[in-house]
Amino acid sequence: MIDLKIAIVFFSATDVTRTYAKDIQEELHNRGCKAQLINVTTYASRQESLPVDDFDGFIFGFPVFGDFAPSVINEWLPMLDGKGKKCATFFTYGARTTGYAHFHTKLLLEEAGFRVQFTAEFLGRHSFNVAGWRVLPHRPDERDFVVAREFAALAIERFASDTSEVFRLQKPFRYDQTLELMKQQQKSAERGWTHPVRAIEECQMCRLCETECPTQAFDADTGLSDPLTCIKCMHCIYICPDKALKVDERMKDAYNGFLNDCHLTEEMMDAKMSKIITEARQAAF
Ligand SMILES: Cc1cc2nc3c(=O)[nH]c(=O)nc-3n(C[C@H](O)[C@H](O)[C@H](O)COP(=O)(O)O)c2cc1C
Repeated sequence: MIDLKIAIVFFSATDVTRTYAKDIQEELHNRGCKAQLINVTTYASRQESLPVDDFDGFIFGFPVFGDFAPSVINEWLPMLDGKGKKCATFFTYGARTTGYAHFHTKLLLEEAGFRVQFTAEFLGRHSFNVAGWRVLPHRPDERDFVVAREFAALAIERFASDTSEVFRLQKPFRYDQTLELMKQQQKSAERGWTHPVRAIEECQMCRLCETECPTQAFDADTGLSDPLTCIKCMHCIYICPDKALKVDERMKDAYNGFLNDCHLTEEMMDAKMSKIITEARQAAF
């Protein structure tokens, strides 16, 4: 029996990434490892230090937001000290693309002192489904969980091995230009109309929208989110017990534009498969 202690560190706004994290945790337990979930979705949770010394290996699971891991995660990773610990990453995505997420996150983790062994991408319903989109409403399903369990098995094998994998990813096409563009967009004052607001009077003021917001963007008193800091992750809408929050109706209407722009149909999206990536490849565009 392999006696490994593994941390599964994840961000999850609408529970897709958390569902995979829990499934991987269960598989690690079934295979005799200790596995602990560390949820870094809220702002407060990322202020605590990561107990790197307590674990033999780390699994980092993040959703893809606009071709990268969430911006708050990209800002948080450089503050960690990986102390040479082995890790693996997985990304959940809503059928469009994982974009630059594998490559960029790997760079950040390596700069922070982790040794990245492999990565994976798992399909899931789109966060914007809470606003009327219909991307993969039934994923993850058994097809995806089979791959997630293989991912857990590979993590044990790689983390227990005395040698470290040389795992390279090719720099994706237009990575430098896109990174620069992303940084400029984050600084820009114009962030669109897709940030949630409170829409109805029936609110018991539990303040979860405010306390659970990944970026401290929501103000429960005014019922407004700050368009500059809101990352449109939909977490507040998803967790509101009163269903009191919503985004502008234009978000729902944007669904057909998304399908057209990405040249996707609902059948094409459902045909996509989750996968483990263990060797260099060009990012899928
Ligand atoms: C702001 C934002 C941007 C997104 N960008 C992408 C993307 O670039 N590619 C993609 O396939 N899915 C994209 N998605 C969908 C999420 O990656 C997907 O739904 C993910 O599984 C959500 O995970 P979570 O519920 O754990 O937060 C985006 C979602 C949001 C909220």
